[in-house]
Amino acid sequence: MKLETQVGIVGAGPAGLILSHLLHLEGIDSVVIESRSRQYVEERVRAGLLEQGTVELLKETGAGARLEREGLTHYGIELRFGGRGHRIDFKELANRSVTIYPQNKVVADLFDIRFAAKGRIFLEAADASVHDFGDAGSRGPKPKIRFVAGGEPHELTCDYIAGCDGFHGICRPSIPEGALTVYDRIYPFGWLGILAEAPPSAEELVYAYHERGFSLLSMRSPTISRLYIQCEPDENIEEWPDERIWRELHARLETTDGWHLTEGPILQKGVTGMRSFVIEPMQYGRMFLAGDAAHIVPPTGAKGLNLAVADVRVMADAFTQFYKSGNQEALDNYSRKCLRRVWKVQRFSWWMTSMLHLFHTDNAFDQRRQLAELDYVTSSRAAAQTLAENYVGLQME
Ligand code: APR
Ligand code: PHB
Repeated sequence: MKLETQVGIVGAGPAGLILSHLLHLEGIDSVVIESRSRQYVEERVRAGLLEQGTVELLKETGAGARLEREGLTHYGIELRFGGRGHRIDFKELANRSVTIYPQNKVVADLFDIRFAAKGRIFLEAADASVHDFGDAGSRGPKPKIRFVAGGEPHELTCDYIAGCDGFHGICRPSIPEGALTVYDRIYPFGWLGILAEAPPSAEELVYAYHERGFSLLSMRSPTISRLYIQCEPDENIEEWPDERIWRELHARLETTDGWHLTEGPILQKGVTGMRSFVIEPMQYGRMFLAGDAAHIVPPTGAKGLNLAVADVRVMADAFTQFYKSGNQEALDNYSRKCLRRVWKVQRFSWWMTSMLHLFHTDNAFDQRRQLAELDYVTSSRAAAQTLAENYVGLQME
């Protein structure tokens, strides 16, 4: 089947769906090609923290009704070390908040709003490939996305392709060899994460530095906790029965004031590796990459989803400028504008990760240095303010 649209989007994760939604609001047509089922995409356990800017965008564009009802707004986090907690007050330091709202609900809300608006989304689309996107001008053949849906081959002809297909997608690898520069750092540890049917044992997120390793107390609702412990990058989850996970969490989150971690049935557990990854540029010809297709951040700064949203806000603005005025300048500057934020977010995510995790290559000096950094961040307003303004989300350019 031959199809046509203005912007062909590969991937129905947060980047692809929010882009499709923002374009629709500007009267720009798009078609989304997604290899998985809606259920699979909505059930993937991913991040759960939205910057205030992300929350405002979703609410202002009509995609925030459930977020308004169910989101947990937080005005601070706790840094825990030496058995004591130290609060970073976002209200006082940055006058902004973050909201706990799981990514799978963001995606589900966007599927609802796009289908309600008769958005064209091909689910379970197989064997997608992208073609004829290399000519930035409009002289050559128009870009195409070929895929199989419902057992039938499809060819989507578009003005532009948006590669929102994540780290393992096809768009980035389809860019000719030598056109991209890769910046990559793989960390010597991962996170073992659990979802537990246990009321969160703290009002706000707790990031804990400990001689046994990093741990994080987060949450999904008043009855569901989300907790992580630093582990080996290739940790075998089979070696982590529930009792061992809880024992480690108790040890790493212990305080001297008798605080107690509430346990509960573990609903899901898994190990994720950690890396910082960026490709430059984030565009090639008539293809524009956004989100995990272009960059990966370690989860310590809770930036993955929020950076994907920032990318597609820039992309949607650029497409709007082009279709409304014919001006190509914002499209030409897409990568430059995104990368300014990407690298500042990479720096913050690397900094949080380096401050809070144990590194095999470190010695006693390094661990004292980390404790001094934590002591500085929790005792200097200037230092705390830099953490706060990055964590709640830097202002969009
Ligand atoms: N064809 C069609 N769809 C594809 C293909 C393909 N060849 N390859 C991947 N996809 C889909 C995936 O199934 C997924 O639904 O692209 C989507 C990419 O979504 P994400 O991986 O969630 O990436 P992104 O939208 O950039 O959002 C980034 O998601 O992974 C988290 O931590 C990350 O929170 C961050 C957010
Ligand atoms: C989460 O709730 O999944 C979460 C929160 C903060 C992080 C990472 C993950 O830094």
